[in-house]
Amino acid sequence: MSAAEPAAGDLAGRAAIVTGAGSGIGRATAVAFARAGADVLGVGRRAEALADTARLHPGITAFPADLREEDAAESVVGAAVERWGRVDVLVNNAGATAPMPLAEVTASRVADLMGLNVTAPSLLARAALEHLRASRGAIVNVSSTYGHRPMPGAAHYAASKAALEQLTRSWALELAPHRIRVNAVAPGPTESEALAAAGLPDDAIERIKSDEADRIPLGRRGEPVEVAAWILRLADAHTAWLTGQILTVDGGLELT
Ligand SMILES: NC(=O)c1ccc[n+]([C@@H]2O[C@H](COP(=O)([O-])OP(=O)(O)OC[C@H]3O[C@@H](n4cnc5c(N)ncnc54)[C@H](OP(=O)(O)O)[C@@H]3O)[C@@H](O)[C@H]2O)c1
Repeated sequence: MSAAEPAAGDLAGRAAIVTGAGSGIGRATAVAFARAGADVLGVGRRAEALADTARLHPGITAFPADLREEDAAESVVGAAVERWGRVDVLVNNAGATAPMPLAEVTASRVADLMGLNVTAPSLLARAALEHLRASRGAIVNVSSTYGHRPMPGAAHYAASKAALEQLTRSWALELAPHRIRVNAVAPGPTESEALAAAGLPDDAIERIKSDEADRIPLGRRGEPVEVAAWILRLADAHTAWLTGQILTVDGGLELT
């Protein structure tokens, strides 16, 4: 079969690592990959949240880990290789947003954010590299529309996602000789635990959500499955000739 005619469920026999799989976009992505036939290692800190994700499909294995910890990347990749003998796809989805007006910037807050949003994807990609070479696999990074738009009050979040987008483009060229593809999805406002995880109070969260829905041309915030569908697509054989691209999935918000 040619690359243009991939079989349905063509991730059968493939192994995928999905970070941040205990909630939101990562949970939906783990389920989408498992439904496409992949063996999925779902990574995150909360064992119970990952167990809830794993209950949604027998193809998902929970692997609790804090990606900010030294050696986490090696143990995550090692766990996938030990179980399935391969890594075909790395989805760098775990990430956090953090309100940080300039007056409140501290070295440790910046390091924390960059550690999760930039360093962890880098170390995971490095740890997975030899396996992705062997499988001619794919990396999908989860950026944000703020990876290429300014975000007053959270400049370091925007900067961390801009860094991830540049890693995506640069790795795409660096790894193309090994036939490893590297792409990114840049979601707009999507239902998830992200705002609560950033420590915002409920009334502020509701206000942000309704303001965002009003501004989105398609009239609503996105659902995690609507982002996961594109993460899956960027990893499967349908996009075998696509690399270094950042796909915005945001109900048209970026056009405004
Ligand atoms: N929702 C949106 O509107 C939106 C928009 C643009 C971009 N994004 C991006 O989409 C990605 C997924 O976010 P989401 O919206 O689905 O939010 P979410 O529900 O908060 O998901 C983030 C996930 O990352 C995991 N995580 C956080 N810190 C971690 C750590 N140190 N080690 C391992 N895992 C960690 C969390 O699990 P634990 O807490 O259990 O570790 C959680 O499952 C993020 O990169 C985010 O920046 C989201």
